[in-house]
Amino acid sequence: LSLNDLNALPETEFMRYFGAVLEHSPRYAQAVCAGRPYTSAETVAAAFIQVAFRDGPEAQLALIRAHPDLAGKAALAGEVTAESASEQASAGLDRLSPEEYAEFHRLNAAYHQKFDMPFVVCVREHTKASIMRGAFDRLNNTPEQERQQAIHEIGRIARLRVLDLIEPDLTEPD
Ligand code: GUN
Repeated sequence: LSLNDLNALPETEFMRYFGAVLEHSPRYAQAVCAGRPYTSAETVAAAFIQVAFRDGPEAQLALIRAHPDLAGKAALAGEVTAESASEQASAGLDRLSPEEYAEFHRLNAAYHQKFDMPFVVCVREHTKASIMRGAFDRLNNTPEQERQQAIHEIGRIARLRVLDLIEPDLTEPD
């Protein structure tokens, strides 16, 4: 999709492309659609990040809770979005050893227990080891810190999803 196409799409078509940029939360894509025209893929990505950061704490928690657990039951059963499945595969989370699955299960359970939400990280910017270490370290955060960290990660995830959907601009940056 070119930037010109994106700026000209009817809303229903825009939603078909961008509705899943924020996991199971298409209303954000509607807000981004209303903010057209955009001048670069990065400004489209920034618009998604802004609407998520601007939201109130309860709405942010709902957005975080729309994410499946990493290497969780839904992922194992193939019941996650195509985006989530391919991101998890990029870090090898779809082919863990039994010991690694058990470790993820422990970390996810401890994280849910403390924060009442799934552990979200921009998997494509990490390795299996750094994801596990991150979960372990983030268990020390306060709920408020962790809500902000999760939203930050969701912004990183959204940015990469948006950049995947838009043709690279081959003109020189000025
Ligand atoms: N990071 C990237 N995608 C996902 C996802 O679907 N779930 C969680 N928990 N983290 C992610």
